[in-house]
Amino acid sequence: MNTKITSALIYTPDGLITGDICITDDRITAVGTAPEGFIADKVISGSEKMVIPGLINAHTHIYMSVFRNLADDLSFDDWLFGNILPREDRLDTEQAYKWSCLSCEEMIRTGTTTFMSMNIFPNADSRAAHDFGMRAVITRGLVGEDRNDEGGIRRLNEHLRDCELYKDDPLISFKLGPHAIYSCGEDYLMFLIEKAKELHQDFHIHLSESRREVEDCIKKTGKTPVRYLYDMGFFDIPTCAAHCVHITDEDIDIFKEKNVSVLHNPKSNLKLANGIAPVKKLLEKGVNVCIGTDSQASNNTLNMFSEMNFAALLQKGVYEDPIVCSADEVLKMATINGAKALGMDKDIGEIVAGKKADLVIIDLNSVNLTPKNDMVAALVYSSNGSEVNTVMIDGKVVMEEGRLVR
Ligand code: NI
Repeated sequence: MNTKITSALIYTPDGLITGDICITDDRITAVGTAPEGFIADKVISGSEKMVIPGLINAHTHIYMSVFRNLADDLSFDDWLFGNILPREDRLDTEQAYKWSCLSCEEMIRTGTTTFMSMNIFPNADSRAAHDFGMRAVITRGLVGEDRNDEGGIRRLNEHLRDCELYKDDPLISFKLGPHAIYSCGEDYLMFLIEKAKELHQDFHIHLSESRREVEDCIKKTGKTPVRYLYDMGFFDIPTCAAHCVHITDEDIDIFKEKNVSVLHNPKSNLKLANGIAPVKKLLEKGVNVCIGTDSQASNNTLNMFSEMNFAALLQKGVYEDPIVCSADEVLKMATINGAKALGMDKDIGEIVAGKKADLVIIDLNSVNLTPKNDMVAALVYSSNGSEVNTVMIDGKVVMEEGRLVR
């Protein structure tokens, strides 16, 4: 199947160009000028449109759309222990699947083609991703005291069953998801390091999210959470660390040394009053930083355009430096940096020949993008996600002119 997007403004690694994108099956075969003799089965007009790589939401929990606008303006403990966890206990997998579907629709409509989700109901978010044709990295949130903890073993086994169920789905992959250092005992973490080596799966963890997490860890171990994991050998496994709000310069050096990717969730960190991650410092040290929305329970959307906007503005405000986190830098955080974090940069994150066709087509005639000046700035500073017109994942159109097609 050959598809051609004609005469579009295209965001490439070398900047914006106007031209065609040719796609054969799941891959981009040409960017700029269509090769002679390329006959398209499907033509999509790119006139008055811009094409960007599909956005990558590197940290979320998609079943949690059920908790949107439900427990707002509360303390972290009241939010989590008083409201979210008790309600989670009353959900089942079928309900979680339906709420995950809502999230998939929200993500596609706002230009996200790939996400990484940490769940408590395996086969809810994997099934939703599969049904919506989304690219997804699924992690079962793992909680346990030690390697003999029955709950910890049960959760790991649920994860393994999910891996088995979707092993033939090329769009779905898995990471091991120790929830956080405060919900996993040291022996359980050591056990998961062994399992990660055995299964060849990377890690996805919440890390240094709140000041209290860090203070408790220092009280207990004499080390920051990052140093604690480093000394344990945790980072010998490629790691995606969500949040990283309260980190030291030494922590940042560890991230650089061990190639840890930071999943920055600016809105969730603000909403739960956890603070603002030092993204400027991380970038200066050469740490890979990408963007996640976290869940609707603490955001309250999965809209990556809104998240990019916050990511850019917050760093400028905090560092009193308008140069930091340029629109282009932030768009890269939401695309190629996310792909690097997920270990998928060979295949996604940029519009170049040879990569998978995960593409988002944006309507440039929207009022809030007018006039057409710097269109990368437009995406980060004036877009709200409603301008997404057509979305393609793995070469298949999943939304066409605003209509979901699956
Ligand atoms: Ni989270």
